[in-house]
Amino acid sequence: MGEASTGGPAKESVEIRPDAVWVGCVDWNVRDFHGYATHRGTSYNAFLILDEHPTLIDGVKAGFAAEQLRKIAERIDPARIEYIVANHGEPDHSGSIPDLVRAAPKAKVLATKKGIETLRAHYGCDWPFEAVAAGSEIDVGRRRLRFLPIPMAHWPDSMVTYDPADRILYSSDALGQHLASSVRFADELPPGLAMEEAKRYFANILMGLAKPVAKALEAVAVLAIDEVQPAHGVAWRGDLRPLLEAYAGWSRGDCAPKVAILYDSMWGATDRMARAIAGGVASQGVQARILHLRKNDLTEVATEMLDTPVIAVGSATLNNKYMPSVGAFLTYIGGLRPPGRRAGFAFGAHGWRGGGAADVSKALEEMGFEIVAPPLAAAYVPDDAVLGAAFEKGRILAGEARARSAGERPA
Ligand code: FEO
Repeated sequence: MGEASTGGPAKESVEIRPDAVWVGCVDWNVRDFHGYATHRGTSYNAFLILDEHPTLIDGVKAGFAAEQLRKIAERIDPARIEYIVANHGEPDHSGSIPDLVRAAPKAKVLATKKGIETLRAHYGCDWPFEAVAAGSEIDVGRRRLRFLPIPMAHWPDSMVTYDPADRILYSSDALGQHLASSVRFADELPPGLAMEEAKRYFANILMGLAKPVAKALEAVAVLAIDEVQPAHGVAWRGDLRPLLEAYAGWSRGDCAPKVAILYDSMWGATDRMARAIAGGVASQGVQARILHLRKNDLTEVATEMLDTPVIAVGSATLNNKYMPSVGAFLTYIGGLRPPGRRAGFAFGAHGWRGGGAADVSKALEEMGFEIVAPPLAAAYVPDDAVLGAAFEKGRILAGEARARSAGERPA
């Protein structure tokens, strides 16, 4: 005998409170999010507050607009929505708003002043906007929703929405993860998974904005929060301290005693140098991680760099310059600007003419890395003397990593 009918298909929207419903969308198959390798997909989270004055917090990416509207319609006629809160105008959260505005013609669109500019720039729209600022509130019935701008975490327009009645922080990009899942909370996933993805997300989305993120954390620290509902990934509830402490540490540039060896090689010579450096690091009891820059995506490399104080960057010389993968790495990390004072060292093999290692060293210096030692170059194939020097450099880098992770950074 089959199971008794439950009276229709299950709802796709998910209650996070009896009168607050997740109406976001899970993007299981996205693997490239403007260059971020989203190996576990992502979600675009949005929330419908079913209070006296129905309120929607955030849209979703454009291709998911119909799905979002379907989820809203499971709970309420979309035309009854009175407020659409746009915490952030980037298209992954605002792409459905043109459809939402059409479906909810009575709704005011609430955003920061910068948010309104951002939405107008993207959609050429003249929606019924209402600008909100720090501490602005709206009375939606049982709740007074409060808005707090968090500029540059992620864009100038970013803000969070706080619900003091349910003690929920709708945190926009902050505290999110690119993680598709069939559950809505971190504690419903295998232990550590959400935090692993939160780290990857911070490294690749927020590392270059560490100071504004630290300010955003200060702004929300005064709030009584039981639950954080970010705009990507799963939500956090229960003891929020590990998450907030991790964010504070990443924003400060706290590091572990380890060295990353990042390189590209043509015929294996630079690869041998990388391994010799790693041997020197390991001989000091310090962890070394080797990442080939054509075999690992930059998302993984940036994640490794988030809490790595010392890097060795190697490149064979190709066309009198470093290799293209190394150039891409330098461009990406130059933009992300890891917080704290980091140290670097360059190495690499060359043929009849050098240039790769020296150019890498110069680039690292220009990016603000303290150069631990002059570049180490090898003609064609590293001999025992070069490999010995590489091992020795590894020992020095290990010492630097220990000192820097212990907070002994230069002024
Ligand atoms: Fe998830 Fe800055 O958008």
